Amino acid sequence: MTISTDGHQGLSHFSEADSVNVVNARMDAAAHPRLRQVMGVLVSHLHAFAKEVQLTQEEWDHAIQFLTATGQICTAERQEFILLSDTLGFSMLVDAINNRRPAGATENTVFGPFHVDGAPVREMGACISLDGKGDLCRYEGHVLDLDGNPIEGAVIDVWSDNADGFYDVQQPDIQPKWNNRGVFITGPDGKYDFVGIKPVSYPIPDDGPVGQMLGKLGRHPNRPAHIHFLVKAQGFETLVTHTFVGGDPYLDSDTVFGVKKSLIAPWNRVNDGPILWHSPFDFVLVPR
Ligand code: BEZ
Ligand code: FE
Repeated sequence: MTISTDGHQGLSHFSEADSVNVVNARMDAAAHPRLRQVMGVLVSHLHAFAKEVQLTQEEWDHAIQFLTATGQICTAERQEFILLSDTLGFSMLVDAINNRRPAGATENTVFGPFHVDGAPVREMGACISLDGKGDLCRYEGHVLDLDGNPIEGAVIDVWSDNADGFYDVQQPDIQPKWNNRGVFITGPDGKYDFVGIKPVSYPIPDDGPVGQMLGKLGRHPNRPAHIHFLVKAQGFETLVTHTFVGGDPYLDSDTVFGVKKSLIAPWNRVNDGPILWHSPFDFVLVPR
């Protein structure tokens, strides 16, 4: 560090060439070490980004306006920042970093913004579709450990869109509360079994800044048809995943990059009274 003629240390004043060091030198040495690491690297990459693209003042203004609009559209039900993270592949990257799993374990995928805590616990075999719309499907399988042993007491929290492509929380005045949601708890055989609908593909909410961004980039806003599962069991890592309907036209271009080949499940046509589809899938958990 140099001392200048006016008595200031060299890192006190900003310079383009030394911008990262100048900013990071301001952090108190006593700040939390992890915070120092994360913020230091963030500043380093942010400055490198601006230097690499030679960011213009207009582009900086535009970015500030975009982030402001992203915040302003957020409500308790609408999380535009998560949509931004999802559509930039950032949610899936963070998910991948934090959920590396051994072969045979069920893979994680993006959580999404539509999970609601407190869905009703339902009896095995119950139907979660409350609006009478869509093709009924029986979902069935086991929660297993890596050796194929059943896991008792696993809590399976399920949610899907309705046949019009909306979650209940997106249409509180139209859909019954808890439509296409439920919690199931496995017995000693680790088995689960419930009736829902065959989900349909849908666009993520695209009437805000993220939708405008996608449009300008020539990207569509659609997700392939899927049903969400959050599986928890004592002594095991929590699984956040979906199963995807094979053959969906958006499987190779999911706008949030959530598709993994191992999560494309069978949807077999059946003639079981009003139930038209059967989708078997086992969830394999990793010990904690
Ligand atoms: C979802 O699958 O519910 C979802 C995931 C990411 C963004 C929007 C929706
Ligand atoms: Fe979804």
